[in-house]
Amino acid sequence: MKERLVSGEVLGEETALEPSLRPQYLHEYIGQDKIKENLKVFIEAAKLREETLDHVLLYGPPGLGKTTLAVIIANEMGVKLRATSGPALERPGDLAALLTSLEPGDVLFIDEIHRLPRAVEEVLYPAMEDYCLDIAIGKGPDARTLRLDLPPFTLVGATTRAGALSAPLRDRFGVISRLEYYHVDQLAQIIERAAAILQIGIEREAALELARRARGTPRIANRLLRRVRDFAQVRGDGEITLPLAVEALERLQVDRLGLDHIDHKLLLAIIEKFAGGPVGLETMAAVIGEEAQTIEEVYEPYLLQIGLLQRTPRGRVVTPAAYTHLGMEVPKR
Ligand code: ADE
Repeated sequence: MKERLVSGEVLGEETALEPSLRPQYLHEYIGQDKIKENLKVFIEAAKLREETLDHVLLYGPPGLGKTTLAVIIANEMGVKLRATSGPALERPGDLAALLTSLEPGDVLFIDEIHRLPRAVEEVLYPAMEDYCLDIAIGKGPDARTLRLDLPPFTLVGATTRAGALSAPLRDRFGVISRLEYYHVDQLAQIIERAAAILQIGIEREAALELARRARGTPRIANRLLRRVRDFAQVRGDGEITLPLAVEALERLQVDRLGLDHIDHKLLLAIIEKFAGGPVGLETMAAVIGEEAQTIEEVYEPYLLQIGLLQRTPRGRVVTPAAYTHLGMEVPKR
């Protein structure tokens, strides 16, 4: 079992030598206002009653801050965070080992919870519901189950695909929240906050330009900031100005809407090989040489959100806006 043990400096920042950009408390977290306001109430209420926070399911596209919210929930509750993921929990015993090592009130974070093996998921039901573990002993007529009490804990589950979660698992979460893509002004604030932490000077207009091209996603915003900083340090005086940002983004092949070469490849394949669609996901994946799951979970959601792609019962189709964005003539149908 691969487990990521978590404390302070957490969960895969780009390099361990840099300060964490991840907000640690709710007041530092920008955007997702409804989720934030609700969580604030639930956390305060649980603390007042000296109870464990109810289980929380966070879902939405990658990079919007699900892991960050799990870190924040643990910090706000004043408890430890243990982090793992669905695919890392291969056998029921992996989860049992983790659950029995928790301290009262701890947050257990399971990323990609839709990928938990079924047998492991079944261990989770009584654990979530009654804080206990049912252990099967023996086989045949002598088989018995042993009930083991667990410390109360909060499960924070994260998934890009709420629809892939089984109903019994979904029903055991007391709080279910969907993360939305961020607005440009929120992303600009996130970039300015990160720049301050990394001690990078950035013009407001440059932060806005990066924000416009960050696909509504803080993870991408911060990645663009780091790459543009490289250009600023090597080509300029270190300060990220608007012209420098625009030039760097062009070199990074990130277009005005934040689309990269894979988005372009995807849209162009539908236009050139399938006359604009409809085309099935698997076919499209084969044609551009990417995994269907990556297309579905990483690339498509944003293209759908900005209206360049549509899903129909017969497959994906590009919209007239996609032709226009790519500088192509919209075909007459
Ligand atoms: N860094 C990444 N996501 C963030 C957010 N939502 N608020 C503040 N900083 C962030």
